[in-house]
Amino acid sequence: MNPLAVTVAGVAFPSPLVLASGVMGLSASSLKRVADAGAGAVTTKSCGLEERKGHPCPSILPFEHGLLNAVGLANPGVEEMAREIAEFQARSPIPVIASIFGRTEAEFGEAAARLLALVRPALLEINVSCPNVSSEFGQPFAADAAACARITSLVKARADGVPVAVKLSLMCPSIAQTAKACAAAGADAITAINSVGPGMLIDPHVRRPILANQVGGLSGGAILPLAVRAVWEIARAVPLPIIGTGGVTRPEDALQLILAGATAVGIGTGIYTCGLEVFGRINAFLTDWLAREGLRSLDALRGAAHHPPPAEARHG
Ligand code: FUM
Repeated sequence: MNPLAVTVAGVAFPSPLVLASGVMGLSASSLKRVADAGAGAVTTKSCGLEERKGHPCPSILPFEHGLLNAVGLANPGVEEMAREIAEFQARSPIPVIASIFGRTEAEFGEAAARLLALVRPALLEINVSCPNVSSEFGQPFAADAAACARITSLVKARADGVPVAVKLSLMCPSIAQTAKACAAAGADAITAINSVGPGMLIDPHVRRPILANQVGGLSGGAILPLAVRAVWEIARAVPLPIIGTGGVTRPEDALQLILAGATAVGIGTGIYTCGLEVFGRINAFLTDWLAREGLRSLDALRGAAHHPPPAEARHG
């Protein structure tokens, strides 16, 4: 038996480590490289109805505490993304999570339907929380629990039985309440959190913001405590599997998210800072940790930091 195997919304992952949306998620080849490196599932870059070029460069800014990014949802559109997913599925057994976004609530349902007409991913991720497009789309839907619930229902109605994870952000009054609203609307899983902010960094020499978009979402090590807290609160609020995402670069970071209640752990910026080896390193650490504690699976660790632990089992 594989001790790292987990189940998210009925989908078996051979490792809890998931490629988060936004990094290496545009092509079958890059998804395959991440799967081969040890990811238990891979998430595509979020795609919408039409191709988008995204924001001009510089759009990604590494700094000592993480990354500021304003890619602007650059993507080839759902039809092209469906072709990449199909090619990936022909080359790898690792589950693929198709991430979709809409400029309007209705567009989420449309994007799901158009993608699913061409390909059947293991899960759909509804990205309601990109912090980098508010000048075009308005504030992220994630700021409004009722909007998240409506979008969840719209996508569920067109998901043809494919489980749906909603990707939430801390940029809302209460992420636990938002998760509850999504759960009531039929969400099968919650992904938390998206990048935080947006934030800004200024080049003192030229006295201007460095990102072409001026502001961008903050990811990487600086947001780990926020992600751990978000997963903790969501785990207490809803009996859904959580893909805990945000700031994971070290093995202990992944473990913290699991102890807070995550079933799976997303890694995105960690690839920038540590390379693809991050997946193998964390898998090996978790395997050793389980062996040392005499545990046969991650089940006993999930949510174990809660006192008392969450009432309901959070896997499957
Ligand atoms: O700018 C971006 O493409 C970011 C997307 C996201 O954080 O969801």
